[in-house]
Amino acid sequence: MLELAGKLALVTGGASGIGAGVIVALQAQGLRVASLDLQPGGPADVRVACDVADEQSVVAATADAVGQLGGLHYAFCNAGVAGMGSILTMPMAEYDRVMNINLRGVVLTLREAAKAIRDSGQGGAIVCTASSAGIMADIGMVHYSLAKMGVRQLVRVAARELAVHGIRVNAVAPGPTVTPMLDGAAEMTGYFEHLAAITPLGRLGTVEDIVDAVLALFALKWVTGQTLAADGGVTVCSSTDVPGIDAEALASW
Ligand SMILES: NC(=O)c1ccc[n+]([C@@H]2O[C@H](COP(=O)([O-])OP(=O)(O)OC[C@H]3O[C@@H](n4cnc5c(N)ncnc54)[C@H](O)[C@@H]3O)[C@@H](O)[C@H]2O)c1
Repeated sequence: MLELAGKLALVTGGASGIGAGVIVALQAQGLRVASLDLQPGGPADVRVACDVADEQSVVAATADAVGQLGGLHYAFCNAGVAGMGSILTMPMAEYDRVMNINLRGVVLTLREAAKAIRDSGQGGAIVCTASSAGIMADIGMVHYSLAKMGVRQLVRVAARELAVHGIRVNAVAPGPTVTPMLDGAAEMTGYFEHLAAITPLGRLGTVEDIVDAVLALFALKWVTGQTLAADGGVTVCSSTDVPGIDAEALASW
């Protein structure tokens, strides 16, 4: 069970998609929630403009949000952008853009949130958003994959350093999930159908699927330093995933 009534939370990327879904779910359990986002809007009680890639912006926005809330117990370091680029052709400006938001931005927001949770004196928990792309070797998104793999290692180190303050740190790794982030991919004929076909549970994720995983990570009191893949099983695909082949056919090989 979450012990959330009256608690305070910070969510980055709370104006849209997974972040907005987590905010609504936390509010339903009695929390007050602040959102840090480039975009205005979203369901948060407190909304502060912030660019997570910019250190001064994160420091100022976190202080503003925590001041308005009156403390902090939980944080969801989630803001991110899609990025496509291959090793041979990707401009380094594109590499820097995605790494700065998806990895540096998580480091910065985790740091500022951890200080605020520590200073509030009751311990708490932080969840960061990784991705199935940081577990698998997807092509065409080398910088995105590296950033998300970095988030998985960040929570392992942060879990050790912050345990002394009673702060647990974990990551959620969504598989392909229907949010505005996937709008570009929707134009690729057959892409969503293919993703569903290679996913053991046979469909793309919904925001609710990822919200369930995030709330579980906030609730699990003996879990820290872990990445939970919420992905319909797509990260357990293997070299036996040949179209038309199933386990029984392989067993008779
Ligand atoms: N949708 C997917 O398939 C999927 C899969 C795996 C991981 N993820 C991750 O989930 C997280 C949330 O993505 P989503 O799918 O909800 O997408 P989304 O585009 O709906 O939401 C992302 C939010 O982050 C905000 N944001 C972007 N750059 C920012 C910045 N520099 N500073 C502050 N806010 C910024 C956006 O304004 C937006 O509100 C991201 O980290 C993404 O990489 C998404």
